[in-house]
Amino acid sequence: MAWLVKELNHHIYNYHVLDAPTIPDAEYDRLFRELQELEIAHPEAVSVDSPTFRVGAAPIPEFKQVTHAVPMLSLNNGFSDEDIDNFDRRVRDGLDTFQVDYAAELKFDGLAISLRYENGVFVQAATRGDGYTGEDVSANIRTVRVIPLRLRGEKVPAVLEVRGEVLMFKGDFDALNERQRAAGQKEFANPRNAAAGSLRQLDARITSQRKLRFFAYGVGLLEGAPLPESHSAVLDWLDQLGLPVAKERAVVRGCQGMLDYFRSIGERRKGLPYEIDGVVYKVDRVADQRQLGFVSRAPRFALAHKFPAEEALTTVQAIEVQVGRTGAITPVARLVPVSVGGVTVTNATLHNEDEVRRKDVRVGDTVIVRRAGDVIPEVLSVVLERRPEPVPPPYELPKSCPVCGSHVVREEGEAIARCSGGLTCAAQRKEAIRHFSGRRMMDIEGLGDRYIDSLVECNLIHGVADLYKLTLDDLLAMKRLADEREGTTPDTVRQGKVATKWADNLLGAIAASRHPPLERLLFALGIRHVGESTAKTLADWLGRLELVRRAPAALLRVLPDIGGTVAESIAEFFAEEKNQQALNALLAAGVAPQGEHPPKAQLRERLDEVTLLAALGIPKLTEPRARQLVQGGQTLASLADLKVFGVFGLPATVAAAFEEWMAQPGKREMLAALAALRTELLAQLPEAAEEVAGPLTGKTFVLTGTLPTLSRDAAGAMIEEAGGKVSGSVSKKTSYVVAGAEAGSKLAKAEELGVTILDEAGLLALLATTSVRAPT
Ligand code: IVH
Repeated sequence: MAWLVKELNHHIYNYHVLDAPTIPDAEYDRLFRELQELEIAHPEAVSVDSPTFRVGAAPIPEFKQVTHAVPMLSLNNGFSDEDIDNFDRRVRDGLDTFQVDYAAELKFDGLAISLRYENGVFVQAATRGDGYTGEDVSANIRTVRVIPLRLRGEKVPAVLEVRGEVLMFKGDFDALNERQRAAGQKEFANPRNAAAGSLRQLDARITSQRKLRFFAYGVGLLEGAPLPESHSAVLDWLDQLGLPVAKERAVVRGCQGMLDYFRSIGERRKGLPYEIDGVVYKVDRVADQRQLGFVSRAPRFALAHKFPAEEALTTVQAIEVQVGRTGAITPVARLVPVSVGGVTVTNATLHNEDEVRRKDVRVGDTVIVRRAGDVIPEVLSVVLERRPEPVPPPYELPKSCPVCGSHVVREEGEAIARCSGGLTCAAQRKEAIRHFSGRRMMDIEGLGDRYIDSLVECNLIHGVADLYKLTLDDLLAMKRLADEREGTTPDTVRQGKVATKWADNLLGAIAASRHPPLERLLFALGIRHVGESTAKTLADWLGRLELVRRAPAALLRVLPDIGGTVAESIAEFFAEEKNQQALNALLAAGVAPQGEHPPKAQLRERLDEVTLLAALGIPKLTEPRARQLVQGGQTLASLADLKVFGVFGLPATVAAAFEEWMAQPGKREMLAALAALRTELLAQLPEAAEEVAGPLTGKTFVLTGTLPTLSRDAAGAMIEEAGGKVSGSVSKKTSYVVAGAEAGSKLAKAEELGVTILDEAGLLALLATTSVRAPT
């Protein structure tokens, strides 16, 4: 027992304080249960520092501490049908009844939070911490848009502490990681980690850019209103107050009811937009809950029914590499097969060279593998205590591509090593075609890995456009070869019969893929850093392939959520002659995006010459300097022709930097092209922005200065979503100026014109009072 206490406390510290667990949760749970059982059998030997007395660990010191008026306890876990049966029996015994109704709900895989409302107004949010004292994360929680700043309805309680879970939707998690990757920043391992990292940001502006969500599941303190008589009614009431409550809740009867609910949620789990790690049952009647009470750290009236663990221990047999679409070399661990959450895992990704080194994974190591939802299983960490003797050598990436033998290169500042073979490397060609034909891209049904491999190996396909030139004979020849090679030639073929239906179907599917929406075609091209969401931004804002393929980086950069790296990557892709040729070949083969449209009206504001000049990334040419040039009468076109620098009162160093930049090959032409494209775009733009109808429709906002928690993009997006417009300059028509720290001339102008001035809190209050309940 002493060993278990010490061991568990050590893991609690690793998990909560260091954020670096060294064993899987399931292993922790197992040890914990073992200790619990021993403590029940030997109560005289329970240690004062037993982790069964406490929940979690101390909060980190940077946030203000908050003492919970009602402690935030945790739940006992059940795993098997028998555990649920036992729970139901204990509840029935405790209540002295033969049948009990339970409120059944989802067990969200996020972070517990307590939200305090006084007279209906949000005043504080605190994390769970050790259950008694948590951290004040109010500033961050304010940025979570599904959380109302004011409760709805006439009769709100004097004090209400809502308990619930903060989490990140899977789609938002993918988009966040896409952005992190593009910005060269660390990716998050799973939505839970991403939500935790975002919530515990000391800088709430970062939190505001991470789409966090929230679901309420209970009430802590309540004053000035009666608590409804059942838990299900409590949830309905929270829903009426405007708090997000998951609709998957139900009231079920007895053990069978709970098990049925568990099965039905298990079937729907994959389709939910967020991750859950089980379901929770709570005795529905509040009076019964009170009667049952608590035992040490958890209520007797509730139980978490967890899905099988998604982490497991196994051994690394070998480390091999895979070659991706862009030549990226990904190390993969070959594992002794192990069941993780009900699925047998034999391979797990190690991401890249740095990750292997950071985790220090070696052949023969015992590792923790994790599988979450649909994602590829990954090696989380090595259990160093179990490293074999003699100690295996550290892993090294191969110097040449295992598929084509070309050099493996890793450019400075890049995490990924790549095969330098390009499309001469069969692995890269296969991956490019696999990506292109994927479900979320061109969606060519029936073009599976096996056919792709054979088509490439038979030299029938060099680029993706070749797909559209395939004939029935090509496909039959390819299949014959594939079958011969694999020794799978069917007897019917040996007898001279040839099946052609599959080939007809495949040709049909290829032909049917010719007219995808533009964003899918853009995604399918496999431009580095362009995922689904960036492709959608390009398609929404520019509308036509013709424009996307000609846009210089500076133009792409002014689009929402496209940063420097992504903009450069897109422009570089289209600057590459062979990519333009591949695209032309596709168009010549009859591929044409459907539903192209003129660029978005809101683009007009972003085509401001000052903004574009500053987006060019010319050293020292900051926005104020760009403004100086434009106010001095320069245009993009005139600058492209500029012969003499150092006019218009620019400081000598700035003028020199500009001159040097312009002397680089292609820059002058690029500037001229940007100027021409801008003129062309302005001519194509529809007149008035199509307006989103919302509570702020017809209102124009100007944002100025630095807001305490919201970035300008985030504040702008919130305004636009409510139907308002954001403009760059103050006039009599401006409805509100939202001013932050160091607001300058725009604030002065607003005061002069008598325009209403708001601070961030004022804006948030306006959005909260005008907004209908935010969608969950
Ligand atoms: S009720 C006194 N309901 O699970 C019981 N908890 O081990 C308070 N959780 O830290 C918790 N979904 O963050 C409850 N529907 C749900 C939940 C839920 C997730 C988390 C919660 C808590 C942990 C309990």
